[in-house]
Amino acid sequence: MPVKILMVCLGNICRSPLAEGILASKLPKDKFFVDSAGTGSWHVGHCPDKRSIEVARKNGINISEQKGRQIKTSDFDEFDYIYVMDNSNFNDVSHLAKRPEHKNKIHLILNELFPDENVDVPDPYFGATNGFENVYQMLDEVTDIIADKLIKKHV
Ligand code: 4NP
Repeated sequence: MPVKILMVCLGNICRSPLAEGILASKLPKDKFFVDSAGTGSWHVGHCPDKRSIEVARKNGINISEQKGRQIKTSDFDEFDYIYVMDNSNFNDVSHLAKRPEHKNKIHLILNELFPDENVDVPDPYFGATNGFENVYQMLDEVTDIIADKLIKKHV
């Protein structure tokens, strides 16, 4: 059984598709399954934002085949780790998780890099294009740490 990791943001078209693609590129596929979801439903079935596709492509990662979906309660049983991009996602996902063992799976992603500081991955959707580069760099850095931890623990 692979270890399952879910990346979550608001729309599942900008940040979490990047987080999914970048982390998946750092983990052995036979041991880990990485997916992403949004707390909102606006972009269910949609491809990632073209600015996320482009910044990933420039870095050698293809996220263009991903399709947006909304987080669902069965995800708390199915996934081992749930990483959320910002504090608002943390609150929304925590409200959906009813059991303590489910709540314990939820981690604010940048706390892996800046422990206990509760820093957000900023939502680049309404901002300038370099917001996507910035998000890419943050996620690349933090997924190095997450991949190391996961490989040490599970491989
Ligand atoms: P994401 O960005 O949460 O990083 O995917 C957003 C994309 C779309 C919307 C909000 C955030 N939206 O309101 O449609």
